Amino acid sequence: MRTEICDLLDIDLPLLAFSHCRDVVAAVTNAGGFGVLGASSHTPEALEAELAWIDSQVKGRPYGVDIICPETYEGKGQELTDADVVGLVPEEHKAYVLRLLADHDLDAEQFGESLFVMGGRFNDETGARLLEVTLKHPVGLLANALGVPPSFMLEAGRSYNVPVAALVGAKEHAIKQVQAGVDVIVAQGGEAGGHCGDVSTMVLVPEVIEAIKPHRSVPVLAAGGIVTGRQVAASVAMGAAGAWMGSVWLTTEEAETAPYTVEKMLAAGSRDTVRSKGRTGKYSRQLRSDWTDAWEAGLDAPAALPMPLQSVLSEPTLRRIDQLAAKGHPGAQRLATYFVGQGVGLMTRKRPAREVVLEMAEDYLAATERLAGTLG
Ligand SMILES: Cc1cc2nc3c(=O)[nH]c(=O)nc-3n(C[C@H](O)[C@H](O)[C@H](O)COP(=O)(O)O)c2cc1C
Repeated sequence: MRTEICDLLDIDLPLLAFSHCRDVVAAVTNAGGFGVLGASSHTPEALEAELAWIDSQVKGRPYGVDIICPETYEGKGQELTDADVVGLVPEEHKAYVLRLLADHDLDAEQFGESLFVMGGRFNDETGARLLEVTLKHPVGLLANALGVPPSFMLEAGRSYNVPVAALVGAKEHAIKQVQAGVDVIVAQGGEAGGHCGDVSTMVLVPEVIEAIKPHRSVPVLAAGGIVTGRQVAASVAMGAAGAWMGSVWLTTEEAETAPYTVEKMLAAGSRDTVRSKGRTGKYSRQLRSDWTDAWEAGLDAPAALPMPLQSVLSEPTLRRIDQLAAKGHPGAQRLATYFVGQGVGLMTRKRPAREVVLEMAEDYLAATERLAGTLG
């Protein structure tokens, strides 16, 4: 199972795991894959603690860090405080959320200070602070999503000799990334959990590989809907250097996914997700729930706000909903949702992350044997 990404990142298996959970990152890295910690929602102090912990667990094995610096967001170039951003959220939207909660037997008091406050802010300023912390650790990859990485990230990658990866959902974006100097492209299809475009992985991967060929040769990782080794084999058959996966780790024993949401994910089929702007203001795939339905309710729903304003409505509110759902509140349980891809239909039991990696390697082997068998 050796591809060019194994040589670039010094790993045994071309299996990359995006996770916000340090335990998943360490478990995948220790199993021979490559864990990538999603750092965007951390403060610099929290990130420092997480990376120090990962260092102590992986003992020199390689891992990466993903920091989102979106190319576009509301207020870019203006110095808006959190209070300024919250102040930009229209009353109509707040009233809509309050109505939605009331329809689910939830009132503002149950949310206390977690209603209409800043819920995660990704920008160049926070990104630069997180990058500074990251570079004090022996990281083997920097990753960025939602556009071309800022020049400070590309320059840091070059001066610290750390490859920089970028997530793309369209071939035009891949060309832009390669021209900007990115070292690894993650071609992420519309099946993916989290922010994604609408081209499927099966089409996007070969399309991106062909599109960047005339520009520069960089490894392309396939992402979106990949949960099994046979899908990794299919990705490699299409020309990818390996797979980048996010959803499959959400139901592992190490993951910190809210317990009720894990139950929902294990019971969900591949048609139980939706690509919606209702969580962050940009399209992202999530588990379908009364929350996501509310933002897709046609004329009854206000249009989702641009990033980061929609997160003021959703992020802290949904985290509180997770807590209430775990306590058995039926309305909160109907609203509870999280980012997950269509591969959720293949995620049917809770397992250790290491077991997922090893099973993937076995399934990959069986798939390649099947392919070889077709040659007669
Ligand atoms: C819960 C969740 C959160 C995500 N957050 C980020 C993120 O902060 N930065 C990022 O680059 N990608 C993020 N992604 C996308 C993943 O990096 C990855 O591309 C995607 O999960 C691949 O598709 P899959 O979910 O079908 O495996 C997230 C994905 C999930 C499921």
